[in-house]
Amino acid sequence: MSFQLPDLPYAEDALEPAISAKTVFFHHNKHEAAYLSNTNKLIEGTAFENDSLEDIIRKADGALFNNAAQSWNHAFYFRQFTAEKGLMPEGRLKEKIEKKWGSFEHFKDEFVINGVGQFGSGWVWLIKNKNNELEILKTANAGNPLTMEGCVPLLTFDVWEHAYYLDYQNRRGDGLHALWDIINWREIEKRFV
Ligand SMILES: [Fe+2]
Repeated sequence: MSFQLPDLPYAEDALEPAISAKTVFFHHNKHEAAYLSNTNKLIEGTAFENDSLEDIIRKADGALFNNAAQSWNHAFYFRQFTAEKGLMPEGRLKEKIEKKWGSFEHFKDEFVINGVGQFGSGWVWLIKNKNNELEILKTANAGNPLTMEGCVPLLTFDVWEHAYYLDYQNRRGDGLHALWDIINWREIEKRFV
């Protein structure tokens, strides 16, 4: 099986000003595409050839883990955005966030603090853990919560420099804060099952 680059569910310029069309283009068509291409090369003729990306992430290590996890992480990342600005969480997810962090605003601040605090490259995640509790988690490099027992990833911000440097240079926190405006909370709620 060969993995294909997923289409974006919006135009490349739809996320401006939070993420420029140029960043979306390079991030999706160059970085994400390269991780997928590397994954396809690495599984060819191996026992992983017919596995899903999720299976590969749970079983592989080294270069294959890194490329498969980065492929999955980026597809998950781009799918969570929308051209519709300023959506807010609703229902059970909203209640859980407010119960855990006191308010949605406080949750957003904590999430970005964790993203800024990730030394070097990585990701910051909102997950549902094995006890059904919401949790903010940082992972280094290609790290992915699917490798942790019972973890369901809900939301992620990419903190690799390639995700924000064209638009925000060294201001990682500004780049992360800007993303709240373009989160498709209806998609995140679907992940919260
Ligand atoms: Fe990235």
